[in-house]
Amino acid sequence: EKGGWDSFMDKEIHEDPAAVQRTLLGRFDEHGDVTLDEVHIDEHDFKAIDKIIVIACGTASYAGQVAKYAIEHWVRIPVEVELAHEFRYRDPILTPRTLVVAISQSGETMDTLMALRHAREQGSKVLAICNTQGASIPRESDAVLYTHAGPEVAVASTKAFVAQITAAYLLGLYLAQVKGAMFRDEIQQVLASLKDMPAKIQWVLDTQPEAIEKAAEQMVDAKSFLFLGRHVGYPVALEGALKLKEIAYTFTEGFAAGELKHGPIALVDEGEPVVFIVPPERGRNVLHAKVISGIEEVKARGAFIIAVAERSDKDVQQYADVVFWRPECPTLMSPLVDVVPLQLFAMDMAKLKGYDVDKPRNLAKSVTVE
Ligand code: BG6
Repeated sequence: EKGGWDSFMDKEIHEDPAAVQRTLLGRFDEHGDVTLDEVHIDEHDFKAIDKIIVIACGTASYAGQVAKYAIEHWVRIPVEVELAHEFRYRDPILTPRTLVVAISQSGETMDTLMALRHAREQGSKVLAICNTQGASIPRESDAVLYTHAGPEVAVASTKAFVAQITAAYLLGLYLAQVKGAMFRDEIQQVLASLKDMPAKIQWVLDTQPEAIEKAAEQMVDAKSFLFLGRHVGYPVALEGALKLKEIAYTFTEGFAAGELKHGPIALVDEGEPVVFIVPPERGRNVLHAKVISGIEEVKARGAFIIAVAERSDKDVQQYADVVFWRPECPTLMSPLVDVVPLQLFAMDMAKLKGYDVDKPRNLAKSVTVE
């Protein structure tokens, strides 16, 4: 059952690399073309799509937020991400050229199901990204792209998140291919970096747990945490904050790091733990410098800094009290590795507090009421 791990959450975090790998399997051919054979939406309909709206709840919505950065960059069409329960009740603008992407691990989340019904009634096509074969959401959608994370038992979603990002990226690449928005070799390059990710996640799982556990021991009594990130690091910060509140019952807030000076910095006091997702340093990444200066600012106010950063990053070491390292990878791939230490950190915190990490209080694995 738990395969030797003391919780399903532990087991499932360690399945992150396999979840990505299995979700990629069979989704491109020997020429490197994306072949989503099981997606039965006409290629002409795909070509005509001029807007994507992702609907989802919780962790799945953060996977959608990550995908927005990639798909807009690759396909050059607008991608909106909306919580399913908000979408349904605000009279959203839907046309036959809108592709609604419903992301759900369980495929049974009622808020998401009602939102997709509404989208179809308005004449839009719905594609489900789902981890559960034959569940209600894929059954009622026009097309399905299954994530192959394997069954997820722990209430807090972990391996499903990385699989959802992978599937949404495949969809983005497929759209870019169909619409001619990217050159073939560009698509192949992205596919190659996606294929590299399971090994990079594995590196984190092999080398970082000790540092993460130590940090959890140090921070176990902290009353609150702030999580900050920019670009794709922003939804990762939101997901890291969600994991910690879900299972360790610690008050957390996730923010876009650029918002710091527009409000959240008022919360920073002596010893306040602040988690930063640091973007890669290389190339034209101006965001790296901006995040580092955010770290400097909160450090000057006495914050306890935990950073998730690339292992070659020298600036981070100067200010961070603790660093969880990740291997180098392109910015758009970084969420797949950056979330892993945050999943482990939340689990360690919950265990140290003596909580049941698989069955947190007040939460259900899938919420089948609206
Ligand atoms: C919540 C679960 O209630 O539903 C979360 O506790 C999950 O872990 C969210 O992210 C959405 O669930 P699903 O199955 O639609 O992805």
